[in-house]
Amino acid sequence: MVVQDSADTGDVRGGVQLEPFLHQVGGHLSVLQYDEHTVCKPLVPLEHMFYESLPQAMKQFTPRYKGTVTVHLQRDSRGHLSLVASPLQEAQGSLKVSSESAAVAIWETLQKTTGGVGSGTRPLAHLAHSLSESPAKTLLRSEFHFNTAAGESQAERSFNPWGLHCHQAHLTRLCSEYPENKLHRFLLLENVVSQYKHPCILDLKMGTRQHGDDASEEKKARHMRKCAQSTSACLGVRICGMQVYQAAKKHFLCKDKYYGRKLTVAGFHQALRQFLHDGARLRTELLEPILRQLRALLLVIRSQSSYRFYSSSLLLIYDGQEPAEPAERTPGGPAPPEPSQAALAKVDIRMIDFAHTTYKGSWREGAIYDGPDPGYIFGLENLLQILQDIQDGE
Ligand SMILES: Nc1ncnc2c1ncn2[C@@H]1O[C@H](COP(=O)(O)OP(=O)(O)O)[C@@H](O)[C@H]1O
Ligand SMILES: [Mg+2]
Repeated sequence: MVVQDSADTGDVRGGVQLEPFLHQVGGHLSVLQYDEHTVCKPLVPLEHMFYESLPQAMKQFTPRYKGTVTVHLQRDSRGHLSLVASPLQEAQGSLKVSSESAAVAIWETLQKTTGGVGSGTRPLAHLAHSLSESPAKTLLRSEFHFNTAAGESQAERSFNPWGLHCHQAHLTRLCSEYPENKLHRFLLLENVVSQYKHPCILDLKMGTRQHGDDASEEKKARHMRKCAQSTSACLGVRICGMQVYQAAKKHFLCKDKYYGRKLTVAGFHQALRQFLHDGARLRTELLEPILRQLRALLLVIRSQSSYRFYSSSLLLIYDGQEPAEPAERTPGGPAPPEPSQAALAKVDIRMIDFAHTTYKGSWREGAIYDGPDPGYIFGLENLLQILQDIQDGE
């Protein structure tokens, strides 16, 4: 575990430059890429406390917690603005950023396309500038995809525009609200999609209530309205973002939270089908492993007394790249083993975002709830039923 607290000196020589995380499908602040296997996000005390006291049973369904890090805004010699994490003695070796990462390459290409490479210019300011004009619509258009020069693999160059939108908004906010030398604390978490070549990701906000116990009356009313007007109220789950790899076209189909908020129950059902569809066929082999893991998660949630996962999300993840076809049997040769397709399909179910999660011991003056989280369980049961219906061909 890597922990660096507020006693930091602020010396960032040799620090890690944080990159936008290109597979961020939801959220409001940017999730950043620390290295290939690690993402980081601004530290919220409740979420920090949650990860620090995580029950063993929940660990298989959450990203591995890797500690905290101090981050600050830094301008390079050309005036380019970036977020830099302070160097960590303990992190050497295991937490090194690769300058060859796809995120870096895509980010640099984006800087070029937004005109941010001239000396003395600020690419993020350029991006902000372009985002405030018509390209913003292009960038946020829900089915937008980004390709670079011919000859490059287009799939390698596709990313979710939501992450860049959040990154830009986050930097703008940091610049306007804090002095440049202010130190910020971030959480380091396992990047739960790093093992996937073309990660298909569905972000589901769970439960019938979103606001935390500390929400103002205005925030509470706003969140209650969003729940009442979306599938959160009737299903205990709503879509907060998704990306699905379209195998033939070699790009991601992306949907944002605004799309998810407008869905009816029938629309939600349809969107789940779309999440499992690669453009040519429904990946039915994924249903069994997803259902199996969701049932296991349901057992864990039912066993956790006092937890209320307000505003938390569940990520469903699989690879858009299908496993290679098994080799054909040579005539007269031995029959190849026949593992069931479901055993081959890798999927991940991960709970994330605990900034408003409450449980006995988490908040000295807050409410203490009895028993397991009924809203989360309601959402999981409905999700299981809908996926079961899809499996049954309904
Ligand atoms: N540990 C992680 N690994 C991979 N992707 C993540 C991880 N945590 C968050 N994300 C991505 O970032 C998005 C926003 O994350 P979240 O924790 O909900 O942020 P916020 O607190 O801003 O709502 C998610 O929809 C997901 O795509
Ligand atoms: Mg979130």
